[in-house]
Amino acid sequence: MTTDHYYYEPARGHGLPHDPFNAIVGPRPIGWISTRSGDGVLNLAPYSFFNAFCYTPPIIGFASLGRKDTLRNIEETGEFVWNLATRPLAEAMNRSCAPAPPEVDEFVLAGLTPATSRTVRAPRVAETPVAFECRMTQIVELKNTAGGDVGVWLTLGEVVGVHIATHLLKDGVYDTAAASPILRGGGPGDYFAITGEQLFRMSRPRYP
Ligand SMILES: Cc1cc2nc3c(=O)[nH]c(=O)nc-3n(C[C@H](O)[C@H](O)[C@H](O)COP(=O)(O)O)c2cc1C
Repeated sequence: MTTDHYYYEPARGHGLPHDPFNAIVGPRPIGWISTRSGDGVLNLAPYSFFNAFCYTPPIIGFASLGRKDTLRNIEETGEFVWNLATRPLAEAMNRSCAPAPPEVDEFVLAGLTPATSRTVRAPRVAETPVAFECRMTQIVELKNTAGGDVGVWLTLGEVVGVHIATHLLKDGVYDTAAASPILRGGGPGDYFAITGEQLFRMSRPRYP
């Protein structure tokens, strides 16, 4: 280590009070995932190892660190819903991450309303302005450089239905900031809220 440069190799530990990895790769959008178990129990949980990976067809994915209820439900049913986590719903989103046993419905725990989806049996969060109905396409267990399983499962799903509150469509264009999305920073509890003040625009360069 030099005085102006901190270096570490993750396999040997970061040596810092908090692992900086997810504060650096951040803020990250939140995959707030609702599912229904094979037995019909509803489930809701946030996943910030989450992103969109493909435009056509639209494909999103999230990583389950360990085998959690969401993963098991998707294995059983092949379906899930992504719900937009917004600033007004931040505390409810946080309540939905409680490590409750499979028989507990986190919609109840978080004080949220399940709304019937159109194409999948998993419900969406009625209070959120945006939701994607998804069908699982792949579940991939992640590996380390030695080829060993790391006990983390990346679940990918095709978005087959999109719900958008009409007030977020300004002349037909989706207004990201108007939805007040929240994103996950690092540390034990850092989040960022998006407002229009952070917006700037750039055009892609042409070549030649
Ligand atoms: C903002 C936020 C992001 C989270 N991201 C993840 C994640 O990416 N992967 C994960 O396994 N757990 C993540 N968690 C923890 C899960 O939400 C938590 O383990 C939850 O109990 C899982 O619920 P389930 O067993 O009903 O699926 C996150 C929690 C919060 C609050």
